[in-house]
Amino acid sequence: MQTYFWKLQNNEQDAEVMQKAAALIQAGEVVAFPTETVYGLGANGLNSEAVAKIFAAKGRPNDNPLILHIADVKDVEPLTTGLNENAKALMEAFWPGPLTLVVDKSEIVPDAVSAGLATVAVRFPANQYAQELIKACGCPVAAPSANISGRPSPTNAQDVWEDMQGKVAAVLDGGNCGIGLESTVVDTTEPVPVILRPGGITYEMLMEVLGEVDIDPALQGDAGYKPKAPGMKYRHYAPQSAMYLLEGEAAGKLAQFVADALEEGKRVGVLCSSATAEALRANENVLAKADAASKNLLLTPWGESLEELAANLFYLLRDFDRTMPDVILAEGVGENGIGLAVMNRMRKAAGYQIVSIIDGELRLKNGEIPAFMLK
Ligand code: TXA
Ligand code: MG
Repeated sequence: MQTYFWKLQNNEQDAEVMQKAAALIQAGEVVAFPTETVYGLGANGLNSEAVAKIFAAKGRPNDNPLILHIADVKDVEPLTTGLNENAKALMEAFWPGPLTLVVDKSEIVPDAVSAGLATVAVRFPANQYAQELIKACGCPVAAPSANISGRPSPTNAQDVWEDMQGKVAAVLDGGNCGIGLESTVVDTTEPVPVILRPGGITYEMLMEVLGEVDIDPALQGDAGYKPKAPGMKYRHYAPQSAMYLLEGEAAGKLAQFVADALEEGKRVGVLCSSATAEALRANENVLAKADAASKNLLLTPWGESLEELAANLFYLLRDFDRTMPDVILAEGVGENGIGLAVMNRMRKAAGYQIVSIIDGELRLKNGEIPAFMLK
């Protein structure tokens, strides 16, 4: 299939591009578009055949339901049998924005969208281009993240192109996504709303509105808990290289682990703050082993703030699939604010290979501690 690539310029020509994109969606095709979180793969959310094309393009398992995107608060009404007070309070506080609400679904929502569940996920994105596209379509737009299933979600149009060229009708380029992580998913059908996926609307922000919020225990990655968001059970975001996440005190061992892995002849990728990257560049142990010619040390700093980390994380993870180090060491961060969402994505990317220090002893949550960490 030929895939159009249309750049949005924030000028008069955009209207024409939007009309062409909307016409494709109305004709049952799939179009990738920007949102403030990540890029989405949009299709007419009330048309099962169109929705099936999304699953085919992504290679997504059928039991993983999609989010319906709307561009006006009142457009949620036909999609649900009713909204409770919690759902209404969250819509009022955070829509449009990076919050997806799971609500009881109405008859008009196809099973292909909800994967046979009695509920449906709905989001009103804040991104202006997303809103214009949805309005031009005149229907709810079903849209998962625009990546091949399992890969990190794309946060720029080039990354969408890499995964979706030849598989969808068009890609709209609206620049970089501001937030960089997928929306917070909250199940509002429980008496106490439950965070199924952390995101840009933080636990603290939800608490302020609701007074009480649960977090799906499956997010800790412990065996025995089945996540309530089907998508959260799949291997996700993982680069092809083995990745270890250093949490808490273990993050203090980063320089030593880097030096010892280099010593073993490994090409080492490091995901860390700019300040940590500076310190590694100045560390004598690391310097002695790093070889500029063979590029055995790939320092990829994400900046200083948690917001910068969120915005850059998926791009940097995808970049490791281009540079292919032998091992990736990632520095953990605190779980306040968007840190909870960042750590959730980093843990999944690492396949829950989480290194920590408990009672003075080095521990690995999932698997065997690699030899270079034991020197
Ligand atoms: O930021 C976002 O949410 C992006 C942009 C494009 O809007 N979309 C996105 O969609 O991340 P997707 O399909 O990649 O992730 C949707 C998540 C999955 O984990 C899915 O299992 C969950 O939401 N989900 C969807 N419907 C659900 C439902 N009825 N009950 C529980 N979880 C649901
Ligand atoms: Mg996704």
